[in-house]
Amino acid sequence: MYINFWYPICASEDCNDEKPFRTRVLGLRFVAFRDAEGQARVMRDVCIHRGGSLGKGWVRDGQVVCPYHGWRFGGDGKCTHIPTLPDDSPPARAKVDSYPTEERYGIVFAFLGDLPEEERPPLLEIPEWDQPGWRANKLTVFEVGAFYERSMENGLDPSHNEFVHPAQGSPNINANLRRRPLDVQDIPWGSKFLVTFENEVKGTEALGEEATLVPEVEAGSGHVGPNTMITWINFSETNRFSQYFFEAPIDENRTRVFFVNMRAFMLEPENDERIAKVNMIVAQEDIQILEELDPVRTPKSTAKEVLVPSDGAVMRYRKWLREWDEKGWRIDSRRLRADAGDIAYSIPCPDRRSSGNWVLDPVPLQPAGD
Ligand code: FES
Ligand SMILES: [Fe+2]
Repeated sequence: MYINFWYPICASEDCNDEKPFRTRVLGLRFVAFRDAEGQARVMRDVCIHRGGSLGKGWVRDGQVVCPYHGWRFGGDGKCTHIPTLPDDSPPARAKVDSYPTEERYGIVFAFLGDLPEEERPPLLEIPEWDQPGWRANKLTVFEVGAFYERSMENGLDPSHNEFVHPAQGSPNINANLRRRPLDVQDIPWGSKFLVTFENEVKGTEALGEEATLVPEVEAGSGHVGPNTMITWINFSETNRFSQYFFEAPIDENRTRVFFVNMRAFMLEPENDERIAKVNMIVAQEDIQILEELDPVRTPKSTAKEVLVPSDGAVMRYRKWLREWDEKGWRIDSRRLRADAGDIAYSIPCPDRRSSGNWVLDPVPLQPAGD
């Protein structure tokens, strides 16, 4: 798990100015709410007075109030009100990490890290969003009992389709191409590939569909950063899916996936439901495999696996992860686990670069090159 990337925190509709939204990402709790301007704010969910959970409190005048002793915090993380201080002037130390946010595609994202704006990796864009000829399904959020890197690697793996999703219309990878190395290309902060699949596409059992002949199916996937992924399924120029997966590691064992499905056919809203149904059947098939992987986390050494050319995109993904290891962005999960209950760590926010005297310790990071 890495600091310094954008993570999906909650659906826009769950972020409001009355009741804070509480969640867990990267093994730590966060709170989301709307300030007086309606802007989504995301903060570490630990009150620096004596450890209360801000997310269990309430929002008053666009500020979050701790339920324990009523300390109030603005969206910038600074304490604005301490009921028991005679002059009600909170000390400068009374501040909580507050993170940059972006709200897109019905999702509140937070940049969980301390990089200044110009150095931040980008948030994965959906170019089809709001474009004529495309329609988005309602946002689907689901949890997987697996480590997020395993989930990402599953999305970057074209050779599982015919085994894991045989009944859901998933095309088989073309027999002539199956044994060739994947042609993986780098993109900014990630990589992608496209492959050609068999002409025959099996029908979707859940929809009672027959097999169809499709001249040429091109499909592939890619990732941007460690936790966002795209899958393209192009049956033809006009018959296409682009699927976006914004993944938030809850901790080292669980992942929350924010899934946006874009389609360029069956555009009528009444098709949303059946498409969502098939998508979830496919997701469940993946989840059943992912939740049984052993070890839960990807082994550190490739000597503990037997990788073949069709794992090329997985290997390229891991190479990217090594680059972010080199930057010193990987969270030291073992220490985080060992200190759980004794130390409330925090992901350092950008403000830590310009001001000192923070109460919570920054989350332990794996030294670069470790
Ligand atoms: S612990 Fe939050 S106000 Fe006391
Ligand atoms: Fe799959």
